[in-house]
Amino acid sequence: MSVGIIGTGHYVPEKVVTNFDLEKIVDTSDEWIRTRTGIEERRIAEDTMDTSDMAYLASVNALEDAGVKAEDIDLIIVATVTPDTAFPSVSCMIQDKLGAKGAAAMDLSAACSGYMYGMVTAKQFIETGVYKNILVVGVEKLSKITDWSDRNTCVLFGDGAGAVVLGEVTEGKGILSFELGADGSGGKYLFQDEDYLSMNGREVFKFAVRQMPESSVNVVEKAGFKKEDVDYLIPHQANIRIMEAARERLGIAEHKMATSVKKYGNTSSASIAIALSEDVKNGKIKDDDLVVLVGFGGGLTWGALALRWGR
Ligand code: UT7
Repeated sequence: MSVGIIGTGHYVPEKVVTNFDLEKIVDTSDEWIRTRTGIEERRIAEDTMDTSDMAYLASVNALEDAGVKAEDIDLIIVATVTPDTAFPSVSCMIQDKLGAKGAAAMDLSAACSGYMYGMVTAKQFIETGVYKNILVVGVEKLSKITDWSDRNTCVLFGDGAGAVVLGEVTEGKGILSFELGADGSGGKYLFQDEDYLSMNGREVFKFAVRQMPESSVNVVEKAGFKKEDVDYLIPHQANIRIMEAARERLGIAEHKMATSVKKYGNTSSASIAIALSEDVKNGKIKDDDLVVLVGFGGGLTWGALALRWGR
């Protein structure tokens, strides 16, 4: 059985915070942020909007796109490191709000790779015939664990949510291969310290420029294709320089890579899901395209998959 994405959706908060806005609160510059990261602005959620609210809005969008009713969802997986509360989980909160009465629900924590872990987990349940329709959401309200006085981190992150519905697709389409990995010895490079996110940027950078290109190539080869066959690449939207490393390794043209990092910054678990939803809706991803999704993040963790787009 082939398992693939049958609907996509996303939600980003309305409030835009530009690099120039950040110049007013920390010692930084638009020029530094642009050249080091590629980020121009990010979205920040209001106090009244929590993680589950964004997850809900992205999910409604994805269910509509898939043409699947909430009551036909069998499982909800929410990838997040910024849940409203430790429990109940965000997945239970949106199960109730959506009216997905028949769905089991769980949150999954793999930092920025969470969405990749969620997709791969969902695929197993469908492939084995246990479940038919699964909602996978990547969502973060990173602004609530951001130290707004630390220029090393506060310029990088943003809030948002992306969602997909996974189900059975035509033979040959859908998820063709995947890779997941973790290296707990690198946990010290990116973690939540008391209230705030703390990061050794240089170490995470080194890990990411090695891992993202490697995992991208691995999943393409596992799927039985060559680098030249790849039509579109969605790397975790953390830093344009890291993303470029993956693109160059695959040897694909600039316009074949998602670059929503410019507008949204790094939204952790949500970043690949938002970029996918946007680029499907704006026609950059077309039926039958060979698409590679690849992420990395705290843990350290990583994950990639190759898929043939379409139902
Ligand atoms: O989802 C995963 C999350 N994490 C990541 O993806 C992070 C990966 N790492 C990176 O993206 C990059 O390492 C950064 C963008 C965080 C930093 O870029 P870099 O080219 O590695 O810069 P650096 O850490 O080598 O710092 C260069 C200088 C330092 O000053 P000194 O020590 O050379 O005087 C920093 O203090 O830039 C300084 N700096 C800043 N200057 C202006 C750090 N942050 C800022 C800032 N504005 N916002």
